[in-house]
Amino acid sequence: MWDELILAALRARENAYAPYSNYLVGAALLAEDGEIVTGCNVENASYGAACCAERTAVFKAVSEGKRSFRAIAVAGGPDGREPTGYAFPCGICRQVLNEFAGPEFTVIVAKSVSDYREYSLEELLPNSFGGEAIK
Ligand code: THU
Repeated sequence: MWDELILAALRARENAYAPYSNYLVGAALLAEDGEIVTGCNVENASYGAACCAERTAVFKAVSEGKRSFRAIAVAGGPDGREPTGYAFPCGICRQVLNEFAGPEFTVIVAKSVSDYREYSLEELLPNSFGGEAIK
């Protein structure tokens, strides 16, 4: 069911720029309109300037006019081999996803198209802080 999205994440991972951590991450975000927007991690010699794959995908999509999403697939692992573990979104990426995700939003962490786990964002970010709190 998630084959296309996972494949897109695995392909995006090939573009990861991670010469400092050598940890390559790809993400593929499925927009409500059915389009897939991908991202990879982009590191920097000034380490704090790095951007995670998930946020790259979200910021690309929002900058293209998309604001509602159904799911994201994430694949990550050390350079030089296929992912051997599930790469969960970091806390900042969970918060960024929460800004644009509805209650049905699904997070898929994948090693391959046939080996993945599926979560709701609510499971990964319970009792989240969102815009309604500051209205
Ligand atoms: N990274 C991601 O791309 N996504 C995450 O959710 C966690 C971490 C990246 C950031 C950095 O380039 C590398 O993985 C090692 O932390």
